[in-house]
Amino acid sequence: MNTTEAPLPSLAARERTATTAAERRAGSPLAVSLRGVRKSFGDKGVLAGIDLEITRGEFVVLLGPSGTGKTTLLRLLSGLEPPDGGDVLVPRQRTVVYQEPRLIPSKRVLSNVSVGQQRSRATRENAKRALTEVNLADKQRAWPATLSGGEAQRVALARALVREPELLLLDEPFAALDALTRLQMQDLVGDLVARHRPAVLLVTHDVDEAVRLADRVLILDNGGFAVDVDIDLPRPRERNDPESLRYRATFLAQLGVGRHSPPDKDNS
Ligand SMILES: Nc1ncnc2c1ncn2[C@@H]1O[C@H](COP(=O)(O)OP(=O)(O)OP(=O)(O)O)[C@@H](O)[C@H]1O
Ligand SMILES: [Mg+2]
Repeated sequence: MNTTEAPLPSLAARERTATTAAERRAGSPLAVSLRGVRKSFGDKGVLAGIDLEITRGEFVVLLGPSGTGKTTLLRLLSGLEPPDGGDVLVPRQRTVVYQEPRLIPSKRVLSNVSVGQQRSRATRENAKRALTEVNLADKQRAWPATLSGGEAQRVALARALVREPELLLLDEPFAALDALTRLQMQDLVGDLVARHRPAVLLVTHDVDEAVRLADRVLILDNGGFAVDVDIDLPRPRERNDPESLRYRATFLAQLGVGRHSPPDKDNS
């Protein structure tokens, strides 16, 4: 078992003229490398020898039935959980955003964003900038209890961004939000990732979210990746674009959704 924090080469190596996901990967430094990673809880095997590479700036979305080990994989990448075997190579700067924002109720919004960081003028300025990026500049002095669910989750995003992660881990970050807020948050995350270029692993049950955001979609099942495909569609992506619908149908079929339903029925 081996977990290493990798010193990453600079972004200058990135090939900016590349058009397909595979070409972009070839021109980018590695952010994550998993080799033969295994994890069990008692006699329940969850990850059975996972291999995975994610490059800097790559947006990977992880789908999979409930209980297949998505959160376990994310926890391994965050360093919260040790693997039973295999090698985990991750960057030192990594942050996690969860389904719930996990704000500290006794701290105002700005302090929540900079929590755990050295107190300085620069830290405050960075936190203000991150809040502006998530369109919450006017909420710096608000208390968490006064925020809407979407606002609180945007504070959590600002808190993640301000640490300038090389790896951003998102575990169903929009699952608790209403449909409209969820779409707005997806756009926001897409924009922020395009600007900051961390490697991203986003866990979701929402197939449309995967097709909208991902450079690459993985489906975890039976301890390994049943699907690992690039989504080479231009952005912004339309949900009803025929190519998007084709990816959607493929993923839903793999997830076993809609097998017994008429093809036009929305099962996501
Ligand atoms: N700390 C733990 N102790 C024992 N079993 C665990 C622990 N953490 C996870 N498991 C088990 O490992 C399996 C995978 O759990 P995990 O939370 O990774 O699934 P998931 O794919 O994220 O599911 P969901 O989509 O419901 O969030 C489950 O069977 C779960 O009960
Ligand atoms: Mg989970």
